[in-house]
Amino acid sequence: MNTIDDAQRAPRVLVAFASRHGSTEAIAREIAGRLQAGGCAPTTRSAELVEDPAAFDAYVVGSAVYMGRWMPAARDFVTRNQRVLMTKPVWLFSSGPVGSPARPETGPNDGAVALAEVRAIEHRVLPGRLDHSVLSFPERIAVQVVGAPDGDFRDWAAIHGWADTIAAELLRRLAGTPRVGV
Ligand SMILES: Cc1cc2nc3c(=O)[nH]c(=O)nc-3n(C[C@H](O)[C@H](O)[C@H](O)COP(=O)(O)O)c2cc1C
Repeated sequence: MNTIDDAQRAPRVLVAFASRHGSTEAIAREIAGRLQAGGCAPTTRSAELVEDPAAFDAYVVGSAVYMGRWMPAARDFVTRNQRVLMTKPVWLFSSGPVGSPARPETGPNDGAVALAEVRAIEHRVLPGRLDHSVLSFPERIAVQVVGAPDGDFRDWAAIHGWADTIAAELLRRLAGTPRVGV
């Protein structure tokens, strides 16, 4: 049940991310910026540095995908905080495939697993960025094997649109009028 106080304050949203080379972190920060512009009070944190997850009203959790898996910090965050996350609105994203058409073709499984684990509202797969110049030698070999090309394939318009939807939905929920079917 929402109190009048609830209805008057901005929803506190944790945007937790796991990123190896920085492009997923940039997506998380962009999402937080849009949430703020949309009337929310976001906090952006690397997933392993979140200290008090219960202090938030809602969560956006995202991970870069490596060799078909979410990064351990994001998987651990979801598992460790499953009980808290299950009781609040959660949106998930995987930052992974690169190129056009996107490589690798198979979607990231851990996002789908996390979706079920915490009964999240949605899991989005967002194209990522690949820059060979910052990769380790084993990483270069791995991307050669899957044929993933260099480039920044992040779709900022889509990211903005998604974040704006999340902000609108949270404001609706706080006002006590959740969208039907969500
Ligand atoms: C060694 C390596 C393996 C990767 N494996 C996958 C993969 O299995 N699936 C996928 O969707 N993207 C994969 N990617 C693409 C990354 O997820 C993408 O570059 C992402 O934007 C990196 O995020 P970060 O900069 O936050 O670490 C891989 C990239 C590298 C370098």
